[in-house]
Amino acid sequence: MTLPTLLSSTADVRTFRAASRDQRIAFVPTMGALHNGHASLMKLARERVGADGIVIVSIFVNPLQFGAGEDLDRYPRTLEADLKVCEREGVDAVFAPAVDDVYPGGEPQVRITPGPLADILEGAVREGHFGGVLTVVAKLFGLVQPDVAIFGEKDYQQLALIRRMAQDLNMPIDIVGAPTEREPDGLALSSRNVYLSPTDRQVAASLSRALRAGQAAAAGGAEAAGKAASAVLAEVGIAPDYLVVTAKDLSQPVPGEGRMLIAARVGTTRLIDNVSLTIGG
Ligand code: PAF
Repeated sequence: MTLPTLLSSTADVRTFRAASRDQRIAFVPTMGALHNGHASLMKLARERVGADGIVIVSIFVNPLQFGAGEDLDRYPRTLEADLKVCEREGVDAVFAPAVDDVYPGGEPQVRITPGPLADILEGAVREGHFGGVLTVVAKLFGLVQPDVAIFGEKDYQQLALIRRMAQDLNMPIDIVGAPTEREPDGLALSSRNVYLSPTDRQVAASLSRALRAGQAAAAGGAEAAGKAASAVLAEVGIAPDYLVVTAKDLSQPVPGEGRMLIAARVGTTRLIDNVSLTIGG
């Protein structure tokens, strides 16, 4: 195993990128606190560009996507451990910049406007969140200039918005979604799981149980799926921020392939999860 090259500044990325002009680049943007879910994104990145290509991971806790009262200050920052994960996965370079290198002079005046898809679900409860996500992703894309970028399906709405941004703004980047990695009891891997107390950790598994119940009931239609999932949450006293069945593109559900998405607070931790499902007519 070789240590990935550590790129600590935007200038480092430009130099690294200029030297790798002829190679295919796969990019995995993260906020660090890396777990097996991120490792699976890195594996997919390597598969996409092969042994001769280059895999770059960014680690940057982006202040622009956190609202007032959210967990920006306590978000786990674990660079040493993260570098080990990247080394194990054969990542070539890790871009881990400081905030004032990414945003010299403070918050940017020019930002990405995410459009109506950002007003629903997560966007309805986290004002400005997706504008912050898309702005930093657009900046990272500009710096890294990848051929392919990998994002987890766990943040399904984020993935949909990044696809939409790449399409609407003609970014020549293949956006790839990677399946959610789960604990044995079904809990989706997330950097925020470290906030869960042992009791909350047990309750948290009911989110994925609810989604599985929804999947199993979906042949009876979107409403039946929603009811089955809600019943599981009610048993453990969880009132979700939202629990919805949608079409694959997050529009109104129609018979066929769809998505069920959930967000709920367990203790002090807000968790999100989603699955695909086949909606009966
Ligand atoms: O999913 C994340 O970790 C972040 O939202 C991302 C895409 C790295 C942007 O900060």
